[in-house]
Amino acid sequence: MADDGIEKLIRPHLKGFTGYSASTSPDTLEGKVDVSLDDIVKMNANENPYGCSPRVLKALAECQHFNIYPDDGQQELRKMLAGYASVPIESIVAGHGSNTLIDYIVRLFVGPGDEVINSVPTFDIYRFSTEICGGTVVNINRDDNFAIDVKGIISAITSRTKIIFLATPNNPTGNVIPLKDIIEIIETGLPVVVDEAYYEFSGETVMPCTRKYQNLIVLRSFSKWAGLAGLRIGYGVFPPAVAAYMMVIKIPHNVSVAAEIAVKESFADLDYLQGRVKAIIEERVRLFNELRKISWLKPYPSRANFIYCAVLKGSAGELHLKLQKKGVLVRYFDNPLLKNSIRISVGKPGHTEALIDALREL
Ligand SMILES: Cc1ncc(COP(=O)(O)O)c(C=O)c1O
Repeated sequence: MADDGIEKLIRPHLKGFTGYSASTSPDTLEGKVDVSLDDIVKMNANENPYGCSPRVLKALAECQHFNIYPDDGQQELRKMLAGYASVPIESIVAGHGSNTLIDYIVRLFVGPGDEVINSVPTFDIYRFSTEICGGTVVNINRDDNFAIDVKGIISAITSRTKIIFLATPNNPTGNVIPLKDIIEIIETGLPVVVDEAYYEFSGETVMPCTRKYQNLIVLRSFSKWAGLAGLRIGYGVFPPAVAAYMMVIKIPHNVSVAAEIAVKESFADLDYLQGRVKAIIEERVRLFNELRKISWLKPYPSRANFIYCAVLKGSAGELHLKLQKKGVLVRYFDNPLLKNSIRISVGKPGHTEALIDALREL
């Protein structure tokens, strides 16, 4: 980028900053795929293929007060979320997607020169927000099966360490972190953020530990299990004193009226949504078994709504492009930590069939 005009005033550490690489949106593929945009099979962003609860659609269509700001104190919303997560109201903070809560947490704890410990490969927003705040990410590698290195994490702690991030299930690898490993890390006393964006698919949570440990933060999202990725709503459970700070530093009215309605209606339709989660988990098993039959792919077991696969023959980048041409979108990686691999979101049975047919035709 040219360094003239007002650009020369941009904070130096953001010059050359690598942003977050978001998934391809079908709207951008006009003319690049052999199918109509409506027929694209989207398995690249871990979205819920069933959509949200029909109750959400009905309530949004009927809402008459989008002209009024939402309650900045999130009273009703926090009450509903506290009930769902079985935690006190004063420990809850909701956000415009859990991504923004990650960003607020980093803003709260991390300044220039501070360190954040990350177990890589993992969700890239932890690095993204840390670097924007001028912090340094200390990467501790996972092992060959993507288990975290507890001893490595603990020995990387310095006087500048401000946060340890742990995603469970991890994105993009899909594995969970054993509770005993998480507790060993929490017992360091440093702020530990356990990101449970995919909790409803794994059924494993550290949430009960929030009552015991005053340095534990748990993040959850409505994007995946409740099919609300487009409305942007997530929440965190914090030690109450930290939640109070979060409420002070967050952007005012950070959850829309529409998102608040969507949460209320999702909770009113829990059985329906849990039925969809169950269908996705069943489809995950079927997709895994189908992928295993393809000799040049190595799928890794997953507890989330996606499956990570090493590509053993040929280039993952080319595979992604060939699948894209056939109208099947998957995410691909080729970097030192995620070598020649793809991540496939679990869809409906028909999506699995479209993907497997496309893979077999290659
Ligand atoms: C591990 C992890 N955390 C958080 C998020 C962000 O979710 P949200 O849509 O609530 O911002 C994602 C989204 O893909 C994720 O994979």
